[in-house]
Amino acid sequence: MQNVTSVEMENGKEILRLMRTDHPKQALDFSLMSGAAIEVHDLVKTYQKRHHKPVKAVRGLSFTVRRGEIFGLLGPNGAGKTTTIKILTTLLAPTSGSARVFGQDVVADPLGVRKNICVVIQENAIELYLSVCNNLRTFGRFHGLTGRQIDGQIDRVSDLFGLREYLNEKGMDLSGGLKRRVQVAKTFMVEKPIVFLDEATTGMDAFNKRRTIDAIKEESRKGRTIVLTTHVLDEAEELCDSVAIMNHGRIIARGSVEDVKSMSLRLLYLTLSLAAVSDDLLRAIHIRNPIAVDIKDTTIEVTVREATEALDVLAAVRQTGLLRHFEITSASLEDVFLQLVDTKESAS
Ligand SMILES: Nc1ncnc2c1ncn2[C@@H]1O[C@H](COP(=O)(O)OP(=O)(O)OP(=O)(O)O)[C@@H](O)[C@H]1O
Ligand SMILES: [Mg+2]
Repeated sequence: MQNVTSVEMENGKEILRLMRTDHPKQALDFSLMSGAAIEVHDLVKTYQKRHHKPVKAVRGLSFTVRRGEIFGLLGPNGAGKTTTIKILTTLLAPTSGSARVFGQDVVADPLGVRKNICVVIQENAIELYLSVCNNLRTFGRFHGLTGRQIDGQIDRVSDLFGLREYLNEKGMDLSGGLKRRVQVAKTFMVEKPIVFLDEATTGMDAFNKRRTIDAIKEESRKGRTIVLTTHVLDEAEELCDSVAIMNHGRIIARGSVEDVKSMSLRLLYLTLSLAAVSDDLLRAIHIRNPIAVDIKDTTIEVTVREATEALDVLAAVRQTGLLRHFEITSASLEDVFLQLVDTKESAS
């Protein structure tokens, strides 16, 4: 949750925006190119296997990703995120609809698309018999870098992702989280304008994750477009300029993190620390029809939909003379996500 004080509550949306530490993007070489980075129109993917019922993994997706932004595709297991990433990276053909990556059509010109992209797929893919250094080297060579460019990039990404001390370790000797970090680092060896990261931080501990998130942020400041999927919503909240929430193959919410948060029920949590809990006080709260009231000893958390409702409850509680301290917090992306997925699930 993000803290919002009562003063900020009057214009919570703007203040939340100010609280985010957005760094200006510099040297927008890639993003100076015109047009959208990704344009997806009515994309459908149905997996058809013999003797199996068809699986409608993606059911008519349309969205645009601007150049230079970090775009997050969020959603529960099976929502269709990996399928979408696979189509956009030409690993999988769509059943219908169209997708263009930097202006190139994924079906008509897969090679044109591949020239501009790098991808970390959900499954781990590093060479277990090669050292970290040789993993990076092989990747650079595969992408046509010269020996000098490879040395320079190994230097750069080892510093950026904190891999210097592991350069001589074999892939098979690395922990799962570190393998993943090498895999993500690999994609940044090559200066492609767009990078796809499918669950990049899966299996990473907090330290590993921090390092990786900071490195991704750093890379995005160069103007690279980054498309990522994640289950970790505070990660999306920290990293993404905009997000789309998918469920059952469809987008159920789309916009900046703040837009998505405010388009759903705009929940506010009022935490009241009290000298005591009296019947009068509870009556004063309940009469205002809050969404939820959660009592723990002398602390009550009241969930409301509107800032005015929160202020109303607060005023009533103050009148009882039992209020010691209060705090108002707004819904996190995670709260909104769970709520959206829940509501739309029962609707579909
Ligand atoms: N090769 C396949 N053949 C048949 N069905 C598939 C195949 N790959 C995925 N699916 C199905 O398509 C749906 C979407 O899967 P997808 O992997 O795109 O979801 P996801 O959002 O990436 O999930 P997760 O969060 O678990 O990675 C699921 O129902 C999945 O079982
Ligand atoms: Mg997936």
